[in-house]
Amino acid sequence: MAKQDNQPQRVRDTGHEWDGIRELTNPPPRWWMIAFHASWIWCVVYFILYPSIPLVHDYTRGILGWTQIKEFKEAVREGEAMRAPYLKKIAAMDGQQLLADEEMRNFSESYAKAIFGDNCAACHGAGGEGAPGLFPVLADDDWLYGGDIDTIIESITDGRQGDMPAHAGVLSDDEINKLTDMVIAASKGKATKEQFMLFDEAGCSGCHGENAAGGAINDLGTGAANLTDQIWRFGSSREDILRTIRYGVNQEGVEGTREAIMPAFGEKLTPEEIKMLAVKVYGFGGGK
Ligand code: HEC
Ligand code: HEC
Repeated sequence: MAKQDNQPQRVRDTGHEWDGIRELTNPPPRWWMIAFHASWIWCVVYFILYPSIPLVHDYTRGILGWTQIKEFKEAVREGEAMRAPYLKKIAAMDGQQLLADEEMRNFSESYAKAIFGDNCAACHGAGGEGAPGLFPVLADDDWLYGGDIDTIIESITDGRQGDMPAHAGVLSDDEINKLTDMVIAASKGKATKEQFMLFDEAGCSGCHGENAAGGAINDLGTGAANLTDQIWRFGSSREDILRTIRYGVNQEGVEGTREAIMPAFGEKLTPEEIKMLAVKVYGFGGGK
């Protein structure tokens, strides 16, 4: 207490005192006052420029006319302006040229990522991994129609619809059983000459090729699956194979037939988008 009494008494007090502590009338420090005034002035300026005060049915809009949606649209416009020259170039290039030009190829792959996600991933999987029995894998080098860039573009533009006839009623149960044995043997590279003869007589080779290696590989263009590999479109069990031979693929009105329809995207997407998608599909690793 004595110490306090020794302090100079220059500063006036407010007349308030609590437990011997006097409340002085010192102004706050200068830096504090500057910060204080700067902040309320900033608030007022912000309120005038930007949307701020909520009203009952509306809000004050501010004189700059700024909105989040405007800012977003501007960003989109900027992005489009940046991409426009690329898209123009792509319009003038074919698939082969796109693949050969590294810069354009990279652009295509990243641009097509979102288009693939929106239009293709639901069936083919985000990485083109497909779904067993339903949707073909795009990330391997086993193709129904062909893995060169032009054929991929064609698949996407026009869609695809595998067409394998039903053989129940056309062939006897015994023949169908023998053909199933043949297909299983062929997938292991062990089909005999007799088995291949049966395959030919039953008319299978017309689409699958004499060597059963499929339409794409034989350039028959039928989309007939390769039967000589271990990659199965519809499953590898005896039951699965029997079903495909009995009821076919996409046979209207045939109960048990397998559905395999790739929708056409020629109307929905632009030719540039389809080219970029094809580059992306090619880039999954199976392109030829
Ligand atoms: C008119 C053409 C055509 C004929 C004839 C044909 N197929 Fe097919 N086959 C196809 C097509 C196309 C597919 C692929 C369907 C798809 O994936 O869309 C296919 C698929 C298959 C599959 C499924 C392969 C897998 O990976 O799951 C088997 C098995 C098969 N055929 C066996 C036969 C046998 C055996 C015969 C003869 C009895 C035969 N096919 C006759 C067109 C044909
Ligand atoms: C509704 C499901 C579905 C959607 C969506 C879909 N596909 Fe397909 N796609 C299929 C089916 C089913 C097949 C196989 C057709 C057949 O078996 O004949 C296929 C086949 C393909 C093939 C041919 C594969 C081969 O082996 O030759 C390509 C390439 C392809 N799709 C790319 C795409 C791309 C790119 C998109 C997106 C723009 C897309 N698909 C969207 C179901 C779909």
